Amino acid sequence: MHLLSTKDLSKDYIEKIMAKAGEMEAYALKKKQSDMMKGKILAALFYEPSTRTRLSFETAMLRLGGQVISVADAQSSSLAKGESLEDTAKIVSQYADIIAVRHPEIGSSKKMAEGSSVPVINAGDGAGDHPTQALLDLYTIIKEKGQVDGLTVTLSGDLKNSRTANSLIYLLANYDVKFKFLAPEELKMKDEVKKFLSEKGLSFEETSSVEDGLSGTDVLYATRVQRERFKDAGEYEKLKDSFIFNRALLEKHNPKMLILHALPRVNEISKDVDDMPGAAYFRQASNGVSVRMALISLLLA
Ligand code: CP
Repeated sequence: MHLLSTKDLSKDYIEKIMAKAGEMEAYALKKKQSDMMKGKILAALFYEPSTRTRLSFETAMLRLGGQVISVADAQSSSLAKGESLEDTAKIVSQYADIIAVRHPEIGSSKKMAEGSSVPVINAGDGAGDHPTQALLDLYTIIKEKGQVDGLTVTLSGDLKNSRTANSLIYLLANYDVKFKFLAPEELKMKDEVKKFLSEKGLSFEETSSVEDGLSGTDVLYATRVQRERFKDAGEYEKLKDSFIFNRALLEKHNPKMLILHALPRVNEISKDVDDMPGAAYFRQASNGVSVRMALISLLLA
């Protein structure tokens, strides 16, 4: 079994992952030790930059007693010589027991899965999906808020290019959540995602007004304007500071707001927000180890 998109996951399986991540927290936080992955190898193939996803995958495998082989530079593998993703996967799956792959092309992890004889985890395919990030986002919401049903979740920023926003929406669509999409006209949520919600009978509000977007928000999921997806540098410069959330603005709307961000942030969340009780983005990144431990152990079970 592979993990390519959160669209494919049933609510039962999502809850199984959440429960397993809870069990893994003691290992992630070094309160307990484990060698449950002894003899197993994770191949971390990162053809796009990453700090959190690659290192937390590697940490997860190492803390469970397994080992890691990595590609952390697109130019250092034979993809740079023209090898296909399918052939690469055919080869790497002879060396490793599980593959985590990040690549700039939408659908790249699916191509790898087609060539692989071991489970493939999508660690981010262009502007497509980032399922492990969304699962750790959901885990963080549950941990911080106690439940998901009844929450108003506002996703803001570059909703056109954010793979983490796509993947989180597919997960949250399994719960009773009110969605608000706050983005400038140029970076509005993709039609594909809106169609997905409409087909499930779920509603959403869209706005480019910060005041309307933040009103009634329980959870703010801020995203970075994704410079790497822009063909026109001038367009990026025009849009990069579309929304900047500072403490006064967020406290005015809801001092108890849960504030999430997949990170890295650029300017969209001011540093004075970091001390707010609901500013959970660094705790969120930390949860990535438990959630990725859970995924490795479930996919290799
Ligand atoms: N959230 C996330 O994917 O971060 P990295 O790009 O650092 O892996």
